[in-house]
Amino acid sequence: MSINISNHLPTVGIDRMSFSVPSHYLPLEALAENRGTSFRKYQVGLGQEKMSVPAPDEDIITLAANAGARVLEGEDLSALDTVILATESGIDQSKAGAIYVHGLLNLPSHCRAFEVKQACCSSTAALQMALAGVSIKPNRKFLVIATDVARYGLETAGEPTQGAGAIAILVSANPRLIAMDPESGSYTKDVMDFWRPNYLDTALVDGKYSIKVYLDALENAWAEYQREADRPFEAFSRFCYHLPFTRMGEKAHNQLTSLVDAQLSKEDRLHQIEAGLMYNRQIGNTYTASLHLSILSMLENDTEDLSGKRIGLFSYGSGCMGTFFSGTVQPGYRDTLLTEAHAKQLASRIPLELPTYEDWYAHSLPCDGQTYLTPLCTRGQFRLGGIDAHQRQYEASPGHPSSTRQDGPAQLAQV
Ligand code: CAA
Repeated sequence: MSINISNHLPTVGIDRMSFSVPSHYLPLEALAENRGTSFRKYQVGLGQEKMSVPAPDEDIITLAANAGARVLEGEDLSALDTVILATESGIDQSKAGAIYVHGLLNLPSHCRAFEVKQACCSSTAALQMALAGVSIKPNRKFLVIATDVARYGLETAGEPTQGAGAIAILVSANPRLIAMDPESGSYTKDVMDFWRPNYLDTALVDGKYSIKVYLDALENAWAEYQREADRPFEAFSRFCYHLPFTRMGEKAHNQLTSLVDAQLSKEDRLHQIEAGLMYNRQIGNTYTASLHLSILSMLENDTEDLSGKRIGLFSYGSGCMGTFFSGTVQPGYRDTLLTEAHAKQLASRIPLELPTYEDWYAHSLPCDGQTYLTPLCTRGQFRLGGIDAHQRQYEASPGHPSSTRQDGPAQLAQV
């Protein structure tokens, strides 16, 4: 049965997007060589070339604040209703990461800030919450920030699928980038394919099983979406998927096209997703940010004008929940993109030698309350200055060109 819920609602969707990645990356050739694996396995088998690596003074908050600062440039902050931060790399069991970001960005006190969780797909739940919020208050904007550090054990099968990054999504009425369809289809099932108990700082994963569960979730979420929207596969020009590694997007799209018996050549199938793989291939898994980074990658790298084209979107979070949803690219969307700034950000990253990657991997903040200052490594706008009395100390990076703050946030205690 199709449910018509679109009447009388304002057009709502994604108005602006920007991502932030760590200043350093590990070339996967170096990892392959050291781990005794063929680089072709990573490049072709997994579809990954580089892996973003956070420095000791970068974390989910600095990444989120960097992305948020760029997306809010020139915006009327008084219209901002809510900031929702989605992550599965939370830094505190109680205080929301969104509050730290609220402070770093000097957001108005009427603007709510909270954090949500369900593995990689909480960002999509947050986006849907924001869309509903803007439908009720069309004069307000909501900011969704997805931010994560994907971390597996050294020398495990998951190691080449690590990464880190954040994406900030400004949601409004009459959006400039994508008008979202009101329909969506979800699927939830209690499984153990990937999880991270509180006492571990790396994820546990049953890799092959996680791929199977992902594909099952896609099939079921698509069926549920069809029950609600009754919209054929042919109504979509492009598709973006959650990308723990970009080959997963190809696997997912193959699954969907065979499910609907689409008569497409291999090239045509790839054409429907390939621009959406480009950023993720250079950044790695960003968990909650992954699907939304793929959307931005598609908008910024597809050589065709996508105005008026519908994109199918699949969000997957282990554990598990999947959601299929969709939206239509808006005319003139290219004028709102920050393509040049994003290209510059990726091009200016610094490659790491493997020993430094392993040192940074092993780095952790003291957890006994002692004061600790982190070394200055990041080139991002905000940095984690250290920790003092169990309180993370964030600051604007000294000398960063975009850092215009006069009344900085919490300053690092001098010791
Ligand atoms: N040249 C080209 N291809 C090669 C190759 C070579 N020399 N050597 C191997 N390959 C291919 C393999 O044939 C295989 O391709 P297919 O998938 O088409 O069969 C591919 O490279 C991967 O090889 P393996 O299956 O041997 O890989 P693996 O055992 O090392 O594990 C993995 C792969 C399971 C994805 C592992 O990296 C992992 O556990 N990753 C983390 C979990 C994950 O990302 N799961 C995805 C779904 S869960 C999710 O989406 C949530 C999330 O974000 C984590």
